[in-house]
Amino acid sequence: MVHAGDAALEWRNDHISCIDQTVLPHEERQLSITTVDELIDAIVRLAIRGAPMLGAAGALGVVLAALQAERSGWSPERLRAEIDRVRCARPTAVNLEWGVAEVLPVLRHGVAAAETAAVTTVARIAAANREIGDRGAAYLTTLRDGRLRVHTHCNTGALACVEWGTALGVIRTLHERGRLANVIVDETRPLLQGSRLTCWELARAGIAHQLVPDGAGPFVLAQGLADAVVVGADRIAANGDVANKIGTYGLALAAHHARIPFLVAAPESTIDPATPTGASIPVERRSEAEVTHVAGRRVAPENTRAVNFAFDITPAELITAIVTERRVIAGEPPVRGSTAPADVRPG
Ligand code: MRU
Repeated sequence: MVHAGDAALEWRNDHISCIDQTVLPHEERQLSITTVDELIDAIVRLAIRGAPMLGAAGALGVVLAALQAERSGWSPERLRAEIDRVRCARPTAVNLEWGVAEVLPVLRHGVAAAETAAVTTVARIAAANREIGDRGAAYLTTLRDGRLRVHTHCNTGALACVEWGTALGVIRTLHERGRLANVIVDETRPLLQGSRLTCWELARAGIAHQLVPDGAGPFVLAQGLADAVVVGADRIAANGDVANKIGTYGLALAAHHARIPFLVAAPESTIDPATPTGASIPVERRSEAEVTHVAGRRVAPENTRAVNFAFDITPAELITAIVTERRVIAGEPPVRGSTAPADVRPG
């Protein structure tokens, strides 16, 4: 069971042990992943998901591939191709390729060295969450007095980040400090990461929360039911545009209109200096069946077509601040020299 501080993914000797996020909240099933094919399958079907968690999967994926290469007698070219498959398993969260890049150069010193590098990378990912939680909570408490009502989207907790969480880490830290009143959770269609995963984590942490349908999110903000919106990110462009779960953009527009702070909580590894603006972020499009079906059951007439963008892009000017483990970025681009967003912090 995942509590605050528990790891939702671990390296155990020669394999990855993690919770299968597809069957929550009904079942707490543990996965043992020993091959590249198993890892890619877990990533593609979202058994392993969330940007920092994908960073951990990328780092450990290099070790998994190297061990499989030893067992199966792969050529160096085959090993390289298998690692590339891991790196490209999902396109939007830059953390996946970041995780691979952290460990791949060490592989020339042997598998044991790569294993140490990967385990250290996973520990760094987990540690960054606490820093993000501290900084984000401190920032929000300077904006508002009293106990805060926070609106969030998707799942950004231990399940998405190995431990604690990014946006959910900020929420957990506020709760720990007695500065949290309530959390509003968007259900996060089509795969319900909000209702299935975030509500599951909040319930276990004893944090008061209410679930809302995605379509209600902007109106709930307009009704004054939240003091701040806090979300995670899958990739942050050099200019501060943010890719995150589909539905984030609508929430940002509504927060801007309602003059409510809109905070993005993410590790530095989510900032991609090679991507100048949101326009160059590759946005994953997933199967139409995820929209036409709910939990495997058709909810639209036969032959209904669907558009399934897994992420959207929120322009930098709608974001009050980006909080990382190292800094609070407000009114300036995360990568120096990029186009600065307009300062639209709510007064
Ligand atoms: O498709 P998913 O579930 O991997 O999408 C996850 C999100 O969009 C999260 O908000 C993001 O990765 C931040 S996780 C701290």
